[in-house]
Amino acid sequence: MEYSDKVLEHFYSPRNVGTLPDANGIGEAGDANCGDIMKIYLKVEENIIKDVRFMTFGCGSAIASSSIATELIKGKTIEEAWSLTNKSVIEALDGLPSSKIHCSVLAEQTIHRAINNYRIAMGLETWKDKYEENSDELHEEDRIE
Ligand code: FES
Repeated sequence: MEYSDKVLEHFYSPRNVGTLPDANGIGEAGDANCGDIMKIYLKVEENIIKDVRFMTFGCGSAIASSSIATELIKGKTIEEAWSLTNKSVIEALDGLPSSKIHCSVLAEQTIHRAINNYRIAMGLETWKDKYEENSDELHEEDRIE
């Protein structure tokens, strides 16, 4: 399996690893097929993601995907962070092997759950996640949009 230099770099030196004690949005998602789990902690202030951390109990691609995803959403509005797709994660990593596409989907879904967790805490309506209805089938490669 061929990995890009970017994937390897983020796997060996992941950014924003850990938890945030003062997080006000926490999301967790797992992939039923591989058993990997991802957790994302957001510190949102005035609609901006001021800080973000992740914990991933999973494969190297899941670690690289969550690492780069945290970089991509830090400093962004929650609307911008919500619009981050797994395709953007893959592009930022200079590609992922086809059997590892679902790892990037996990990152997108975990961010969505963290944002909705924040929205619930703020008394706001949750946003609809396109994966929620079929969350047990994340391995399908046709999920890239
Ligand atoms: Fe399942 Fe990577 S193999 S998240």
